[in-house]
Amino acid sequence: MRQIASKQLRSSALRAASTWASVQQGPPDAILGITEAFKADSHPEKINLGVGAYRDDNGKPYVLPSVREAEKKVVDSALDKEYAGITGVPSFTKAALLLAYGPNSAPLKEDRIAITQSISGTGALRIGGAFLERFYPHAKTVYIPTPSWANHAAVFKDSGLKVEKYRYYDPKTIGLDFEGMIEDIKNLPKNSIVLLHACAHNPTGVDPTQEQWKAISDAVKEGGHYPFFDMAYQGFASGDTDKDAFAVRYFIEQGHEPCLAQSFAKNMVRSQPSLPRMLTLHPTGPVRRARRRLLDRDVVGGREEAGGLAAEDPGAAAVQ
Ligand SMILES: Cc1ncc(COP(=O)(O)O)c(C=O)c1O
Repeated sequence: MRQIASKQLRSSALRAASTWASVQQGPPDAILGITEAFKADSHPEKINLGVGAYRDDNGKPYVLPSVREAEKKVVDSALDKEYAGITGVPSFTKAALLLAYGPNSAPLKEDRIAITQSISGTGALRIGGAFLERFYPHAKTVYIPTPSWANHAAVFKDSGLKVEKYRYYDPKTIGLDFEGMIEDIKNLPKNSIVLLHACAHNPTGVDPTQEQWKAISDAVKEGGHYPFFDMAYQGFASGDTDKDAFAVRYFIEQGHEPCLAQSFAKNMVRSQPSLPRMLTLHPTGPVRRARRRLLDRDVVGGREEAGGLAAEDPGAAAVQ
């Protein structure tokens, strides 16, 4: 007994002396919490709606045949396993751009888009947040919808941005609070950063119609706001990747120069840790060479001596 007590005393003394003694336990992850609760639930007809990924009729993960085929192609091509460039694998980022922007996109055709691969959608949001925190010339506040994906606020706060909300979901109609959203966007301070879910809004699944997106684009433009799109479910909302990219493409047609965080974790069922999750960030504006260097070196983490200018590699970043 005395031995146990003295052992406990020693370990708490050690803990108190640790460099990390004052680090607080973080809050539990709400999303993973749902998965834990799901596992613990013994109901025979339980369905886990906490994770937005394909499932078969038995609720088991479903890998698309096309993904299996692509996986095989990657293995068969016996890649050389060298480092990718600072901003990712050019053939990948080129394909990601095409998927999001479409073949008729003016900034894409004119090579005016800066893009970097990142660690999944979360990484892209973080890089986008950090980029805006460092270089956005107006107030460093991002407005996110109420509600929004649980990690948005934390990721943006950790990027150094202030996070505020605008109205989005109306629980009374179980639909979009369109008037509230437009009113809030119109009332934001000029040049605010507005985060928009491109499609399949998480967690509500409620998206604006194409007509509503047009009015949202007008309201964003009227305030001189900066749109930041998060597109984590392209193809999931309608089954058509072009339709789901409507908002992003429409905004660009209207002259907005948004930032876009793209995730393939869901639509390509590529969340397995053994596979690189691929994500891109696209400030589409007139980002010139100097700014491209900043993006590479200062935000993505390129090192000048070891290739901070790696974007000079053909296609490592596609910018005007
Ligand atoms: C709206 C939204 N954005 C971003 C992400 C993050 O994507 P990833 O899993 O690729 O980091 C998710 C994932 O659930 C999401 O729902």
